[in-house]
Amino acid sequence: MSTFFSEMVWLCLAVTAVLGGTVLCKYKKSPGQVGSLAVCLAGLWGVACLLSWSLFWGLLFLSLSCFLVHTYFSGQALLPVDGKAVLVTGSDSGIGHALSKYLDTLGFTVFAGVLNEKGSGAEELRRTCSERLSVLQLDITNPEQIKAAYSKVVDKVQDRGLWAVVNNAGIIGFPGDGELVPMTIYRQCMAVNFFGAVEVTKTFLPLLRRAKGRLVNISSMAGGVPLKKLAAYSSSKAALTMFSSVMRQELSKWEIKVSVIQPGGFRTGIAGTIDMWDKQEKNLLDHLSPEVQEDYGQDYILAQRNLLGYIDKCSRTDISPVLRDVHHAVRAKSPSAFYAPGRPSYLMLCFVSLSPTSLFDYVTENMFSSGNLKPRALSMPKLKNKAM
Ligand SMILES: NC(=O)c1ccc[n+]([C@@H]2O[C@H](COP(=O)([O-])OP(=O)(O)OC[C@H]3O[C@@H](n4cnc5c(N)ncnc54)[C@H](OP(=O)(O)O)[C@@H]3O)[C@@H](O)[C@H]2O)c1
Repeated sequence: MSTFFSEMVWLCLAVTAVLGGTVLCKYKKSPGQVGSLAVCLAGLWGVACLLSWSLFWGLLFLSLSCFLVHTYFSGQALLPVDGKAVLVTGSDSGIGHALSKYLDTLGFTVFAGVLNEKGSGAEELRRTCSERLSVLQLDITNPEQIKAAYSKVVDKVQDRGLWAVVNNAGIIGFPGDGELVPMTIYRQCMAVNFFGAVEVTKTFLPLLRRAKGRLVNISSMAGGVPLKKLAAYSSSKAALTMFSSVMRQELSKWEIKVSVIQPGGFRTGIAGTIDMWDKQEKNLLDHLSPEVQEDYGQDYILAQRNLLGYIDKCSRTDISPVLRDVHHAVRAKSPSAFYAPGRPSYLMLCFVSLSPTSLFDYVTENMFSSGNLKPRALSMPKLKNKAM
């Protein structure tokens, strides 16, 4: 019996050494894929296994852990680029623009869809990227432009198909209490963030099927976490997230992998400019009934735009976590279904799924609000009592 155990100990030791060595080699080759924290945790786990149990059980658990980590790493391995073709929508500015450049430097054949092919973003892509990159006029709310872009992509990729579509184009609209925001903003958000992405997806899917490729949809943390003043934007992103999850299930039979990216706050052009805010504010005021204007009061209504400044101020400037996650979704052998680049985004998504609604609402009460400003009618004692 004791000979059996000592043989098993040697076997476990050998298995652990082989798997552990392979894991370390893989980690060294792709250091970006896992933090050094994970490696430290694995080391601690190994020591804990050896200290907590007998040598035999400790080694058995350790070799099992190494096997699991090894399986995980195998899924993290990056596929060769081999000039694979990728379409990125909304490449004029922000994440899409940076992503098109990044994928180009990695050797992908990039189709950079832009809202304005004569704009400065498009010009910069032509000027700074390789000849593999093609700039395509692609307003994703315009079916004719989607068809024209499809024809151009087919001409170039021929039988190879398209490896990935990154539905990145998106707008935030104008923030405000759901009651105040005009229907035009709800419709614009749905038109770009949801219907546009769905139409691009449906058009390009035959090409993705040929390549057994990837669909990567850039949704938002706001599509999974209810944030005040973002009803129009969040609803359109929630629709995109759910669409992506259903497509993930349906497209697996074609070996197409679908990922959703849910970024938190990154400073890009998404918050818009003061000119745009002025226009949107006028649009909002034009659409409000006298009764709603009376109940909310001018001060409260005019403070809605403060959120855009607040979003801009609180956002981080380094968008590399988003680029890294999209790159992983496009290229890893086994991409994740969800990515939440940016720590706040990840924590918020965990928080909303784990905490009771009342706790979540309490904690986020003053987030994204215009200070302590209340609608005019709620500040009047008579109406307050009436409401109670
Ligand atoms: N930044 C963040 O913190 C954050 C957080 C969560 C999710 N996201 C999502 O990330 C994606 C990229 O946003 P971003 O932050 O990079 O903002 P951005 O700089 O405003 O980029 C959005 C891009 O989409 C383009 N676009 C707008 N409407 C379009 C249309 N109808 N057809 C084609 N392109 C259109 C814009 O063109 P113009 O430049 O000409 O307007 C712009 O190039 C969006 O889907 C956004 O919702 C961003």
